[in-house]
Amino acid sequence: MLQIVLRFSHVFFGALWVGMMAFQVFFLMPALAEAGPEAGKVMGALARTRIPIILPIFALITLISGFWLMQRLSGGNMDAMMRTAMGKAFGLGGASALIAFLIGIVVMRPAMLRSVKLQESLATSGPADRATISAELQKLRARGNVFGKVVTGLMLFTLAAMAVARYL
Ligand code: HEM
Repeated sequence: MLQIVLRFSHVFFGALWVGMMAFQVFFLMPALAEAGPEAGKVMGALARTRIPIILPIFALITLISGFWLMQRLSGGNMDAMMRTAMGKAFGLGGASALIAFLIGIVVMRPAMLRSVKLQESLATSGPADRATISAELQKLRARGNVFGKVVTGLMLFTLAAMAVARYL
């Protein structure tokens, strides 16, 4: 029963985590960039949804169930499992997802929340402040773009590794 609960949580929330990230980075961010100043409203509305809370929770469920499954699969002998191709694939995939999560929490989440705040302050600021705020927003967006691609790349690697690990 525990195995079923772990596998369900792992695959279900893992799929949502990687799917939501890929959608944001490959479709939503380019669309927002194209929308220009109009994008501010959408970004603000998005930040007010539960995404900034839901996504890290989905990620944590996936990570915890993943490391737990890994430990169960090894039968207590992690060294022996890491010498098999399957063990390496689950291990490397897991490490890649962990790094993606850390970058997401340490770099991307604060940058996103900060850019929403800046965007909102843009409406009430004077012309002098507006230029500095716009410049900082530009920088934050560029950074978000790069890190978003790195994080999603790492997660797609995880997905690929998880998909084939058992058959290596
Ligand atoms: C983006 C994150 C992740 C996604 C989308 C994902 C996806 C998947 C999928 C689809 C499977 C089923 C594969 C199969 O049964 O053949 C799976 C299994 C597994 N995953 Fe992940 N995974 C993620 C993160 C992790 C992490 C961080 C670990 C930690 C090491 C991990 C460890 C495992 C293990 C050990 C299994 C095999 C479970 C079993 O014994 O049946 N995964 N994962």
